[in-house]
Amino acid sequence: MKVRKAIFPVAGLGTRFLPATKSSPKEMLPLIDKPLVQYVVEEAVAAGIDQIIFVTGRTKRAIEDHFDSSPELENHLEEKGKEETLQAMREISDLVDIYYVRQKKALGLGHAILCARDFIGNEPFAVLLGDDIIDAPANPCLKQLLGVYEHYKGSVLALEQVPLKQISSYGCVAVNRITDRVMEVTDMVEKPKQSEAPSDLAIIGRYVLTPAIFPILEQQQPGRGGEIQLTDAIKRLSQDEAVYGCLFEGLRHDCGDKLGFLKATVDLALKRDEFKDEFTAYLKGRLGC
Ligand code: UTP
Repeated sequence: MKVRKAIFPVAGLGTRFLPATKSSPKEMLPLIDKPLVQYVVEEAVAAGIDQIIFVTGRTKRAIEDHFDSSPELENHLEEKGKEETLQAMREISDLVDIYYVRQKKALGLGHAILCARDFIGNEPFAVLLGDDIIDAPANPCLKQLLGVYEHYKGSVLALEQVPLKQISSYGCVAVNRITDRVMEVTDMVEKPKQSEAPSDLAIIGRYVLTPAIFPILEQQQPGRGGEIQLTDAIKRLSQDEAVYGCLFEGLRHDCGDKLGFLKATVDLALKRDEFKDEFTAYLKGRLGC
């Protein structure tokens, strides 16, 4: 069955980015001139997704406004003859069909996914986390995962090799390799201590899941941090049906983290023709090279 729907869980509290995220969503932080979440929605659309549901919470209204039409702004731009900007604004609200559901309490990522169950029904679906920005223009990360899903007919997790000292910030997997980039997941641990990590393979914020995850999530008890963890539920899913990992090609930026966000901003600026030369010269000047 083709994957048409995606869940964007955005109800987390964004504590790593306080105070910026006290009253506005982390997903709306701008990378140069576009909010993080728009990059990720564009990735989903490029991968063929045609319906998105945001699982939102308090303080997340700005996301709804961003993807809505904005008649006042559009009229203003039309009157001023700013055709190009007007077109760009219209494209945002025409990107894809978007729906919203609220997670009343931030009980964990697993619980957020469960909140979208009625919308998904009995179909396979994608999950994209709005703070992982993955630069893979030739073949968007989610499209790579969907290729694995279509071939192996099972749930797929995006994986990245990370330095072992960072593994305690991620869900971590044990695997049996099938190809260089595709593997079967044999075990999973959420945020393990370095000494207890089964590998240096971290789960990154892109998933393709079968609907068999929902009854498991319904029964899932709180795990690490007292939260209902998606990783714990996928581990149980892997006991009933094969779950795969995909070492995606592309450069990932963890924009939910301040340093990761800074690196992403610099990287993107260096890739933009309008900034490249001046910004490079500026950085060289600051670094004395
Ligand atoms: P994170 O673990 O990154 O949490 O959640 P967070 O609240 O966004 O950020 P920090 O760690 O406190 O800085 C991973 C994803 O799961 C969503 C978040 O919005 C993020 O996209 N999430 C998490 C929910 O939607 N609901 C939850 O209850 C927890």
